[in-house]
Amino acid sequence: MIKTINVTENIYFIGVNDRETHLFENLWPLEKGVSYNSYLIKDDKVAIFDTVKGSKIHEFLDNIESIIGDKQVDYLIINHMEPDHSGAIKSLKEKYPELTIVGNNKTIGLLEDFYGKFEKYLIIDDGDLLDLGQHKLRFYLTPMVHWPETMMTYEETEKVLISADAFGGFGTLDGGVFDDEINLDFYVEEIRRYYSNIVGKYSGMVQKALKKLTDAKIDIKIIAPTHGPVWRTNPGTIIEYYNKWSKLEAEEGVVIVFGSMYGNTQKMADEIARALTEEGITNIRIYDASKTHVSYIISELWRFKGVILGSCAYNTGLFPAMETVIHKIENAQLKNRFLGIFGTSSWSGGGVSNLDKFAERVKWEKLGESVEAKSSPKKEDLEKCAQIAARMAQKLIAERKS
Ligand code: FEO
Repeated sequence: MIKTINVTENIYFIGVNDRETHLFENLWPLEKGVSYNSYLIKDDKVAIFDTVKGSKIHEFLDNIESIIGDKQVDYLIINHMEPDHSGAIKSLKEKYPELTIVGNNKTIGLLEDFYGKFEKYLIIDDGDLLDLGQHKLRFYLTPMVHWPETMMTYEETEKVLISADAFGGFGTLDGGVFDDEINLDFYVEEIRRYYSNIVGKYSGMVQKALKKLTDAKIDIKIIAPTHGPVWRTNPGTIIEYYNKWSKLEAEEGVVIVFGSMYGNTQKMADEIARALTEEGITNIRIYDASKTHVSYIISELWRFKGVILGSCAYNTGLFPAMETVIHKIENAQLKNRFLGIFGTSSWSGGGVSNLDKFAERVKWEKLGESVEAKSSPKKEDLEKCAQIAARMAQKLIAERKS
């Protein structure tokens, strides 16, 4: 980075973009890349907040040097230990051997498990203060958002919340770093995909973290997460999104996800979608589970209230791509959705019956009987599909009026 990026006069963005990695956590597609954000405060003491993935160490060290020259780094504050942020700690410590590592009890345990023992720790607790000179750091422990050691650091003088993964998202920062420099429409989809797949399972803990910040009555002027845009103009926007997503609130709309080998189950999906349209629903998404990565599907399920799942039978069971979808839904503990089920059997069943078992486990509000066609949908099967759509539309429209 040739140009330094100031978050405030003496707080700097020193993060890096990653356009090489295909899969985040070796699981989640990074078609639009990801940024690993790190921050530096230059004061009487120099503090760095989280590092970056190990593969980005040279760019990261260059960023630091471009700001502090040959000065030492005094503190590394570890808000989060996942290796996309801790991967450069060893190299940082080698370059700046005098630095003190700051974290909570759980941080240090994870640090030593991953990278071995270090010298010079400052172990902080919830609410502790660290004085850098002009800048004062207040620590807020926010466990399980989404790891046990996660915490946030609030810089009291300039009112900057350095928030770890919370409020972050996928997508590289392509020139624009701040919320007022970018088109948010581009980022919000990737922020929700990040939330729903990485953090969503811990939505209850996100609510606790938000409550802790509210109870502390801190004035947050800037939110600086470890991924995605820095929110300096409208931090309330990302707080609102996080509040809504972690309360599992949804918009009016229906996501139809199907697994189909030869197009017969897909035909039912199209019939349902058309019927939904005729009932007045405009937000309708159809996904072929074999084609669209489950992370995009989960993101859509997090957004919309109506879910209609379809599967053919495959080797007496559920179609494998649909197994992936329901496994992820259950693992993410998504709640409070309306559910419809359809599909096909042929020489055996197993698709619809396993979706019915899923319905019992997930305890969403199931709308009517599941529709199961024999090999290919006949007129009466398609009529039943339209009935699922009608029930779904009624439910959604009733919520619109309430
Ligand atoms: Fe961005 Fe939980 O690591």
